[in-house]
Amino acid sequence: MKITVIGTGYVGLVSGTCLAEVGNDVLCLDVDAKKIAILQGGGIPIYEPGLEDMVKRNVTAGRLRFTTDIEAAVQHGAIQFIAVGTPPDEDGSADLQYVVAAARNIGKHMTDYKLVVDKSTVPVGTADKVRAALQEELERRAVKLEFSVASNPEFLKEGAAVEDFMRPDRIVIGTDNEHATQMMRTLYAPFQRNRERLITMDIRSAELTKYAANAMLATRISFMNELANLAEKLGADIENVRHGIGSDPRIGYHFLYPGCGYGGSCFPKDVQALRRTAGEYGAPMHVIDAVEVANDAQKHVLLDKIIARFGNDLQGKTFAVWGLAFKPNTDDMREAPSRVLMEGLWERGAKVAAHDPAAAHETRRIYGDHPQLQLVDNPMAALQGADALAIVTEWKVFRSPDFSAMKAALKTPLIFDGRNLYDPASMRAAGFEYLAIGRQ
Ligand code: NAD
Ligand code: UDX
Repeated sequence: MKITVIGTGYVGLVSGTCLAEVGNDVLCLDVDAKKIAILQGGGIPIYEPGLEDMVKRNVTAGRLRFTTDIEAAVQHGAIQFIAVGTPPDEDGSADLQYVVAAARNIGKHMTDYKLVVDKSTVPVGTADKVRAALQEELERRAVKLEFSVASNPEFLKEGAAVEDFMRPDRIVIGTDNEHATQMMRTLYAPFQRNRERLITMDIRSAELTKYAANAMLATRISFMNELANLAEKLGADIENVRHGIGSDPRIGYHFLYPGCGYGGSCFPKDVQALRRTAGEYGAPMHVIDAVEVANDAQKHVLLDKIIARFGNDLQGKTFAVWGLAFKPNTDDMREAPSRVLMEGLWERGAKVAAHDPAAAHETRRIYGDHPQLQLVDNPMAALQGADALAIVTEWKVFRSPDFSAMKAALKTPLIFDGRNLYDPASMRAAGFEYLAIGRQ
């Protein structure tokens, strides 16, 4: 099938590439000429395991192309995926200007039937706005052309995006007509594997499903974070509690890891947007209000522990930080807990020596040459002469370090672990003061 993907960010690039991988003819459009130039030059603008090879393979095969030419992109695909960003507005609601602009561009340039698919995470009712914007452009041109709008929210996780797209748990499709449903069924047939993964429903339910999934997961994490903080005070160990409750199949083990707060481009913004929608429709979700408050507090948990140990004035101190990205296997720094920690340390006069396997360039882009930040190439280099280590992201390479070398490098053998990577008893036996989340 001929597919156009509008917006070549994380979701657009991964979706477009995976759709090309199964044989479709895909053209990816972006307004960011720099991004498109990188892709046309054979590179990729993001760090995502497995993606670069897949892009190269499909570009070479002629199934995947990149453009900034809006008209050519609209002409190309019978299916037009909208995968542009939906960042939060000042009031927390999703900013739909990019989605609406994409819809208008389709209306301006289409010359035959199009199935327009919202893949971006958008509030309930957005499909109606897309339809109206597109229709307005057609009327401006005084042409009568058929089109459908469908919702197909994306559930991929950064760091595992290719695998998630190629082997999805489920594919949610919201449509209002059988023809559109059939087109989506055909498109996604190669991704079904051994059982039916496609779940079809009405458009509004599909739009809400995406927010429901992210808000539910964010709630689970925040519940565990608050429970961990309580366990710490009670003399209990959250890791034992996690095993104890995860073994109940109604609860399960996934997404039950306490830490120093969730970040990323989705949970924080989607929780905010759902909150906003709930308020707007007079059906407040108190649970979601609390999730947001709890996560904001949890992002300060490492800083609070450092202040409790060293006091509020951190002049002359240096802290090693392991992990800057909001989670492992990505270079994404959006809403990363590391930012709250580093900014809090800087504000109190401390210096930071940080290592992240992938996010150094992104950190430099955000903070420039910050006088209190030194980015180093390997984990051990960050520890030299540091007053303590704070672990923020659970990259695999931090799981089994050389503890005696760590002890020798640190000024004090003190670790604040925001991801519970090590066993507290072994750490104590090795001579470390080890402060984790929800553990003694
Ligand atoms: P992103 O910021 O990485 O990419 C968005 C891209 O859209 C940018 O490259 C931007 O230049 C481009 N763009 C903006 N307006 C455009 C236009 N009119 N025409 C063409 N291109 C345009 O965003 P993302 O992380 O890929 O997220 C996209 C959407 O998918 C969001 O709604 C997000 O909530 C949702 N989502 C993201 C993830 C994720 O893990 N990142 C997962 C699921 C869903
Ligand atoms: C999320 C959703 O998982 C995905 O389905 C959706 O499409 C986009 O948003 P992503 O943001 O890429 O994906 O990462 P995810 O693995 O969900 O982690 C989000 C945050 O939660 C990270 O900061 C992570 O550290 C944190 N987290 C996750 C925990 O603190 N504990 C856990 O048990 C799991």
